[in-house]
Amino acid sequence: GTDEKKAMAEIHELLAKLYHHCLLHTKQGRPALDYLEKRGFTRESIERFQIGFAPDSWETASRFIEKRGLDISVAEKAGLIGKRQSDGKPYDRFRNRIMFPIWDRTGTVVAFGGRVLEANDEPKYLNSPESKIFHKGKTLYGLNLSRAEIRQKQHAVIFEGYVDTISAFRAGVTNGVATLGTSLTEDHAAILRRNVQSVTICYDSDKAGVEAAFRASEILVKQGCTVKISQMPDGMDPDDYINKYGNESFLKDIIGASLTVMAFKIQYYRRGKNLRDEGERMIYIEEIINEIARLPKAVERDHYLRQIASEFNLSLDALKQQQTQTFKQQQ
Ligand code: UTP
Ligand code: MN
Ligand code: MN
Ligand code: MN
Ligand code: MN
Repeated sequence: GTDEKKAMAEIHELLAKLYHHCLLHTKQGRPALDYLEKRGFTRESIERFQIGFAPDSWETASRFIEKRGLDISVAEKAGLIGKRQSDGKPYDRFRNRIMFPIWDRTGTVVAFGGRVLEANDEPKYLNSPESKIFHKGKTLYGLNLSRAEIRQKQHAVIFEGYVDTISAFRAGVTNGVATLGTSLTEDHAAILRRNVQSVTICYDSDKAGVEAAFRASEILVKQGCTVKISQMPDGMDPDDYINKYGNESFLKDIIGASLTVMAFKIQYYRRGKNLRDEGERMIYIEEIINEIARLPKAVERDHYLRQIASEFNLSLDALKQQQTQTFKQQQ
């Protein structure tokens, strides 16, 4: 019931403080702090996002919970603690990881994301599982911190994860949020829409990121958002870009140069194609017609079809026919 939820939230709050302390003020936390500094995290961002460190130990959290008289079975239900098969003894699930608290809308810590320091320890990211207080599909990371800025700027930027959100914050994007390694859901979009209409999707510029951005844009448009997509050089993510090219370039050349969804798709499908080659040109035209067919507004479909017709000297009728076929196939 609500008592268990309260107890669960309290455990998360206290552990977040413990992990934050371990990062900043203990010897064990030193390598983690060095790692974060090497990656460009500032003290300010470590504080704002309450980043912490779970020591390389099986019983830091479990002992802490017992010492404080908190309910270990509640921590187990939240995925913070495991139970040894042999004797039922509790052990910490998050060990030797940088800890990112994940908040709900009210700013209560309801989950953690943990990242390894060494890239060869798998999995790289471990997130809390769903629980009575953590619903992944309804949680936008950082919204509690950025809501006021989002409303004031009347604009939000969506990232893939916490690292990108935090690096972008450092670069001046104070209106960022993230979905947590999952795709954006209708609930995410509805929650955002209650705060803002205009959003920019800034996912990784790899195949997975671009495809996720396309899916997210459809969901956001359905909820009534105006969507832009930003693009980085191939294979980079926001954090990579900021560390390589700096804050100003990120704001100006990436966020500031975001494209409408259709403009983004046009240049995305164009990339690497020689449109003077008839075969490649036909593939491109078909890809774009597919995309146009998905646009919800007839006026928009008409606008882009005319653009294609005039660019490639095709009849609008032929394009419309093809689009009708495409549309039927999609139904
Ligand atoms: P990425 O897979 O792009 O992380 O996931 P990355 O950029 O390689 O990570 P770094 O830069 O080396 O640290 C992007 C984000 O998605 C979330 C995390 O927040 C991550 O930062 N994520 C990813 C999860 O929550 N769980 C996962 O299993 C994977
Ligand atoms: Mn602090
Ligand atoms: Mn990615
Ligand atoms: Mn990434
Ligand atoms: Mn990254």
